[in-house]
Amino acid sequence: MAGERPVQAVILAGGQGTRLRPLTLARAKPVVPLLNRPFLAHQLALLRGHGITDVILACSYRVDDVRAALGDAEHLGVRLRYVVETEPLGTGGGVRNAADLTAGTVFVLNGDILTDVDLSAMVAFHGSRGSRATIFLTRVPDTRPYGLVELEADGRVRRFREKPAAGEAGAADTVNAGAYLLDAALLKRIPRGRVVSIEREFFPALIADGVPCYGWCASGYWRDIGSPAAYRAAQLDLLEGRARMLLPPPGERRDGSWIGPGGTAAGGARVVAPAVVGARVELGARAQVGPGAVVGDDARIGPDARVEGAVLWERVEVGAGAVLLECVVGADVKIGALARVGAGVVLESGAVIPERTTLTR
Ligand code: GDD
Ligand code: MG
Repeated sequence: MAGERPVQAVILAGGQGTRLRPLTLARAKPVVPLLNRPFLAHQLALLRGHGITDVILACSYRVDDVRAALGDAEHLGVRLRYVVETEPLGTGGGVRNAADLTAGTVFVLNGDILTDVDLSAMVAFHGSRGSRATIFLTRVPDTRPYGLVELEADGRVRRFREKPAAGEAGAADTVNAGAYLLDAALLKRIPRGRVVSIEREFFPALIADGVPCYGWCASGYWRDIGSPAAYRAAQLDLLEGRARMLLPPPGERRDGSWIGPGGTAAGGARVVAPAVVGARVELGARAQVGPGAVVGDDARIGPDARVEGAVLWERVEVGAGAVLLECVVGADVKIGALARVGAGVVLESGAVIPERTTLTR
């Protein structure tokens, strides 16, 4: 299949999303809403933009959530298939489980990275080097939570160390961005039926065996959305233009914001751009949404309330005069009148906040 353009991707979507709790207690990480669309819809838009339309989701945790949110993804222009682990098999085991559906050259992506990087350029790089495993690398200020990848001068991977202990980090500032281009035949090397880490086992073994592995350093936007702070920041990055918006939010573009259908706005209510307001949202008199706010479908924002830099899931009720700043609010949360929810606060779906409460982080 050498020389043929890849058309397939495997997305790892089976982690528990521990660091994104309590949000992931109510919904699986791959489908938490990002600008009012399931997270993976953004990743599928990137893939489709580069001709990758045959996508296999390697799942294990809360698969029903993922299916309910994405289905076969025909509406997103791709064909989505699911392979489900009965027990979580780790990143390598998840890929192994999908391997029989792959052929040729295949993308493998972590299901929690938001990027607008040029995957076609990655394909060209892979071909030009005669690479069999190419790892997208990015630079981050703090490398500790990532896989550290050291390169030879010609871009060949010298070493892959997953989250090395403090003091062992060394000089490399390039980390694994969680997107690989792999010769599908290599996936058969991963043992079946046990937990395997692609980072700790598969890549180090390829390097040790002299299989040509290259690092592709690209400078596009990149972020792992796996913590509440990163999850909120990613949405601001899209709204404020730091990340290219490959899939706009639902709704109609109006004065720099996106407004869903069926909503109402009482006198003096305003949406300050950039903001996203879902379908059927009710804005009370003089309520303010934005800048930098995302309000899910069927929310009710009371009179004189203010929602700024905050992400609200569906059906949130905000009482009169309440102020929500730079926080994340799960579905069906009720916030009492005159309450204040401050920066960095994360409210679990279904929480009830009494009136006049002040929550800070
Ligand atoms: N199918 C399946 N089964 N998927 C899994 C499993 C599993 O048992 N465990 C984790 N995943 C998925 C997660 O859902 C996520 O999409 C992806 O694998 C990576 O797992 P994370 O838990 O998010 O890993 P990380 O962020 O700590 O580290 C990884 O990503 C970094 C970049 O964001 C590593 O690949 C690092 O090397 C990398 O730097
Ligand atoms: Mg992650």
